[in-house]
Amino acid sequence: MAVIEANVATSAGFAIPDNVFAEKVVSVKHYTDRLFKFRITRPASFRFRSGEFVMIGLPNAAKPVFRAYSIASPSWDDELEFFSIKVPGGPLTEHLQRIQPGDTILMRKKPTGTLVNDALLPGKRLYLFSTGTGIAPFASLIRDPETYEKFEAVILTHTCRLAAELKYGEELVAELRDDPLIGEFADRLHYYATTTREPSLRMGRITTLIENGQFFSDLGLPSLDPQTDRVMICGSMGVIKDVRALVEKAGLIEGSNAAPGTFVVERAFVD
Ligand code: A2P
Repeated sequence: MAVIEANVATSAGFAIPDNVFAEKVVSVKHYTDRLFKFRITRPASFRFRSGEFVMIGLPNAAKPVFRAYSIASPSWDDELEFFSIKVPGGPLTEHLQRIQPGDTILMRKKPTGTLVNDALLPGKRLYLFSTGTGIAPFASLIRDPETYEKFEAVILTHTCRLAAELKYGEELVAELRDDPLIGEFADRLHYYATTTREPSLRMGRITTLIENGQFFSDLGLPSLDPQTDRVMICGSMGVIKDVRALVEKAGLIEGSNAAPGTFVVERAFVD
């Protein structure tokens, strides 16, 4: 059990460095044998921008393994949420998938990332293209009122192999609609979920659906326009490469924190 591992390891001599917070697991929810979410306490002094990531580890070794995790909760939330894959034999996720409420999670103090509103020029519509756990930074952004102050419409896409892998996103959007703080923005959020290896309401890779125009016709929106549209992409290297090619073809230009543009990318880290 993770608790025992943590205690043994901590008593085995792991000291928490100055640049690391030690937080407690509040809740854990497993979606499939490959996916789970967990929520941890938030240090009072910890500030981040919705869409950023942090380095997460467990106190189970003298030199803990840290991996980048997008923060899935919005910047106003008093807990921190993460959505994780379980990699069999993975140096962190093999242990992380067994955490229980009350266990300790290590988190480096400095958040960073490019999937932030500040890295995009003002626009009318914000497209958030994700696959797998790449939905995590967008789970943060779609729950942040600032996103709706900056954009008239927010379009979240999520593509997974299997229907059960869409569940986290489905819950997220359903809960958002009932949320007293952000529920009022729900009618400006368009959620577009597809599967590729199992039948569901909508099927196909997002790249195919963009290329053949079905994505835009399903949503009743015009195709990508660099004057009005802004894009964030989060998924595997292959997804980033292929979606990037499509948005660049439409005339969008990559931005960064230092030089905002019309699209930004980040890979979904743990794989
Ligand atoms: P597919 O099933 O056709 O490979 P993964 O679980 O491998 O990270 O993939 C998550 C989702 O991303 C899957 O639905 C997968 O579709 C899709 N995908 C993988 N590579 C690409 C790509 N290069 N362009 C668009 N979608 C992709």
